[in-house]
Amino acid sequence: MTKLVTEDTGAFYQYYPRVAVVVTAQASGRANAMAAAWHTSISAEPPLYGVAISAKRFTYQLIAESKEFGINFLPFAKAELVASVGGSKGSEVDKFHRFNIAREKPVKTAVPILKAAYAAYECKLVDDRGYGDHRLLVGEIVAVHVLREALTPEETLDLAKVSPILYLGHDLYLTTSKDMTYLDRKVYGKR
Ligand SMILES: Cc1cc2nc3c(=O)[nH]c(=O)nc-3n(C[C@H](O)[C@H](O)[C@H](O)COP(=O)(O)O)c2cc1C
Repeated sequence: MTKLVTEDTGAFYQYYPRVAVVVTAQASGRANAMAAAWHTSISAEPPLYGVAISAKRFTYQLIAESKEFGINFLPFAKAELVASVGGSKGSEVDKFHRFNIAREKPVKTAVPILKAAYAAYECKLVDDRGYGDHRLLVGEIVAVHVLREALTPEETLDLAKVSPILYLGHDLYLTTSKDMTYLDRKVYGKR
């Protein structure tokens, strides 16, 4: 087997699959939602969450104005909704109306929380920095909405109850298999 080594970094998709989320925002009476795959936890204490969003997105304008955003985790059955909000522009259409997206009330912010989400974070913007063609938005998680039944007693996602949406790039979606292995880092770190 030969590995290709190239300086052509144009399409680097090897880090997929990643969980696809719906980022929500509202400002000046406009609510919006977009798909995002470039998101990550950043700090546990304080709880910080980051998402890379192009400044071209209508969602970015709303977040820059309101200094708040929501991160919504949907089950695989809702993958079409991710494609819908990821394939349309809030500057042209009211996505909540067009795609009939049901909402729940936020508790610490004004960001829309999706009813179909098994988990959602309300975030207050603490940093907004440009890197290349995207902006890295970092928010402090000020409220977590989570479907209790979606979690195991250890608080991990219960994959028997909920299937996350994984994005592979190029409009391909998949979900997890039930296969998993427990590898204790304390044991493995000493082998
Ligand atoms: C699965 C998927 C993942 C995406 N991930 C991102 C992302 O991480 N960052 C980003 O800026 N755009 C991402 N996009 C593109 C936006 O969702 C898309 O441009 C959307 O139309 C923006 O909507 P808006 O203009 O209403 O904000 C993604 C699209 C899809 C379908």
